[in-house]
Amino acid sequence: MDVKACIFDLDGVIVDTAVYHYRAWKRLANELGFDFTEEQNEQLKGVSRMASLKLILGWGNIGHLSDEEMNKLANKKNDWYVDMITHMTPAEILPGAKEFVSACRQAGIKTAIGSASKNTPVILEKLGLTPLFDAIVDGNSVSAPKPDPEVFVKGASLLGVAPANCIVFEDAVAGIEAARNGGMKAIGIGQPEVLTKADKVISGLDQISVDQLQYI
Ligand code: BG6
Ligand code: MG
Repeated sequence: MDVKACIFDLDGVIVDTAVYHYRAWKRLANELGFDFTEEQNEQLKGVSRMASLKLILGWGNIGHLSDEEMNKLANKKNDWYVDMITHMTPAEILPGAKEFVSACRQAGIKTAIGSASKNTPVILEKLGLTPLFDAIVDGNSVSAPKPDPEVFVKGASLLGVAPANCIVFEDAVAGIEAARNGGMKAIGIGQPEVLTKADKVISGLDQISVDQLQYI
């Protein structure tokens, strides 16, 4: 294919924030009187903050809460999460991520972030990665969650590139589906048994070169 843009999910593709989400959700669950496992955390990859909270409360058998109570809990978790991510350093960028995004730009391929996270701007700033992306679409600017393609379609449109010329990099099943739903190719970051709908699956951005993209 003629690749004109690469759109990257953030969490699990550029940086591994899952451990911080896990610690913050676990603290909240424990405060509410139940436990939260790493296996459950896996199921929250790519899932928005509110949707994650609803799942967790369900696992803890917590009955209906008002919108106000839900917001309070989500804000509490986010405050703990933000406390942790503000201490992140560029050393936490996943192997090969910075190099691959830079190589795309050097080859004339446009780059964007397409993430569900409302904390995207602070994470990119902390890691010193903001200037590497031509467009940033995140949880602050989209309304429909993945697998809806909105986040990636918006990214492609900001870059002025047709979906057929875009490749999305994603670690979540819903993210791969979002890319496909938007008419884009998808490279999965993770395990082929999990990311079955991806056009190709690699373990990380250190496992691919810009030259290989034309064969996707
Ligand atoms: C996704 C993560 O990228 O962003 C999810 O994979 C997270 O785990 C979601 O819940 C929303 O993040 P935030 O930072 O807006 O709470
Ligand atoms: Mg992700």
